[in-house]
Amino acid sequence: MAKAESDLRSILDGGFDPQKFPWYEPELIEVPEPAKSLLEKYSKIPPGQEVEHVKKVRDRAFAVVFDGVPSENLYASDLRQDFYDIGYDLFNDHDHLKAQFIVADIFDDNSDIVKKLTNKIDIVNAASFFHLFNWDQQLLVAKRLVGLLQDKPGSLLIGRQIGLVNPPPPEDKEAAGKHYRHDPATWKKFWDQVGAETGTKWEVETRMEKWAGADKMMKDYHEGMDTFKLRFSVRRL
Ligand SMILES: C[S@@+](CC[C@H](N)C(=O)[O-])C[C@H]1O[C@@H](n2cnc3c(N)ncnc32)[C@H](O)[C@@H]1O
Repeated sequence: MAKAESDLRSILDGGFDPQKFPWYEPELIEVPEPAKSLLEKYSKIPPGQEVEHVKKVRDRAFAVVFDGVPSENLYASDLRQDFYDIGYDLFNDHDHLKAQFIVADIFDDNSDIVKKLTNKIDIVNAASFFHLFNWDQQLLVAKRLVGLLQDKPGSLLIGRQIGLVNPPPPEDKEAAGKHYRHDPATWKKFWDQVGAETGTKWEVETRMEKWAGADKMMKDYHEGMDTFKLRFSVRRL
């Protein structure tokens, strides 16, 4: 089992000892932007108390809230309800966040997200998600997202994931492995394939970012592999 996977299993099974994880920063000194402003302005955590607040919640898990649109227009989906509940604690918004959380397996053709959201979504944010899967599974994920997005030009997928310098060719199944990490070229090739298989066309933009700030730990976590943060937007033409 890959280290990241065994770490995740240990967390989910309740055996989470944060000190064992290289990306855990025991001496959290500051909350970097934009999280700091988000906690102050959105979560109403008094200025100066963000670090204390994050420390209080983070040992249970991590969560992300996307802001900027009325929360009743937001949907989020994950396999596990727990992550949402912890997110409420972190962002202090249980009483006013109106986003709808839908527990679903992305591969399930009969899930509630398929039933409720097919062709309804303007923008999908897929953060640290595609890289969980191999190339063929990622194709299924992409097709699911294409099906959730509105069936028209302008529909948009944004996100980020772990990128790899010189990824193996996807045809080499053994080298490509269980968790395919793209560079900008393979991500573009991937979306060309998604387009060909779904009768759609996609404009792909990418940005390669070095690990920085608290993310620097990710570099060591990936055991010396030449990884980077791959940010992307994929827009339907
Ligand atoms: C690395 S986390 C990323 C979480 C969040 N998007 C972020 O950026 O912090 C990956 C998430 O994918 C979820 N996940 C894994 N397999 C899934 C599946 N088959 N369907 C839906 N969600 C899945 C996990 O439960 C986990 O919350």
